[in-house]
Amino acid sequence: MTGEESAESAAGAEAAVPLVRSLRLGLDAPRTGPLQAALALASAPLDWLDAHRGGFLHAHEEALLTDRLHTRRRHGLLIGRYAAKCALAVLRPDLDPRDLAIRPGVLEQPVLSGEGIGTNLGISLSHAGPVAVALAFPEACPMGIDLERIRPANVALLTRQTTVAERRHLAACLAAPEAERLTRLWCLKEALSKALRCGLTVPLDLLAVGSVEAGPTGLGVTFTNFAQYRGLSLAAGDLAAALVLPRPPAVTLALDAAEWEAFRRALADAAARGSGE
Ligand SMILES: CC(C)(COP(=O)(O)OP(=O)(O)OC[C@H]1O[C@@H](n2cnc3c(N)ncnc32)[C@H](O)[C@@H]1OP(=O)(O)O)[C@@H](O)C(=O)NCCC(=O)NCCS
Repeated sequence: MTGEESAESAAGAEAAVPLVRSLRLGLDAPRTGPLQAALALASAPLDWLDAHRGGFLHAHEEALLTDRLHTRRRHGLLIGRYAAKCALAVLRPDLDPRDLAIRPGVLEQPVLSGEGIGTNLGISLSHAGPVAVALAFPEACPMGIDLERIRPANVALLTRQTTVAERRHLAACLAAPEAERLTRLWCLKEALSKALRCGLTVPLDLLAVGSVEAGPTGLGVTFTNFAQYRGLSLAAGDLAAALVLPRPPAVTLALDAAEWEAFRRALADAAARGSGE
């Protein structure tokens, strides 16, 4: 076997098993007392998910997989549920993922139900090809997440969806290619729209990013019209992700910089596996 062939077969073997990275998030909230949320990243090919879906899907989720689904939608649905179950396993390792169902609510938002779940947990998730990120969080602390591929071809479109002030603020903090900067802005807005449950059905200016600050855990932002929320943005390879949650003093996120960096590296690994699209 040549070096090239062995590298190819190693890459093939790697793609045959899912990549999973999860992270517990400690939330200090004076109004409610300490809370816990969990973040998970997962990447897996569609054939792996189909072969193993019996181990993590609820019967109600299985029913969402109709024959009429486009392959891409089927992949998104499966990898999103898989990532969400990985996040839920951090908070509730005692529960069987097959007893937990994530179904669309009336605004298409993910709604969690299931045996033994007891406390009110919310889910936010996002998929990009074979990769998904998901958050499991207490409803007392609304959160949202987004994941996008960074594509230079989208620069013109994304430029039209951002304000001059947003672009200026980000450029002052981040020496990255324009496609990355614009995609990170887009992710932050989409993650906010999920925390608010409105999705991108509102004028995008309403979701505008205000201040931007570079910190040890990536970029931290505030939002012009939603002063009670903050956003965290990270990017690795051609993937950008954003997490939105209430800001201090309502909630203070205890984030270990080393664990966050490990999460960022997992995002880089997921990006290196390719888009699968
Ligand atoms: C939410 C939205 C921004 C997601 O956009 P996207 O880039 O296509 O997809 P992503 O992979 O990032 O996220 C998809 C996930 O967002 C979640 N989602 C959908 N609508 C949501 C909402 N209103 N609030 C919060 N999360 C939502 C779902 O979990 C969905 O994944 P799933 O369908 O596999 O469960 C977009 O779908 C949107 O604007 N939806 C609004 C829909 C709406 O208001 N419909 C009203 C119907 S009456």
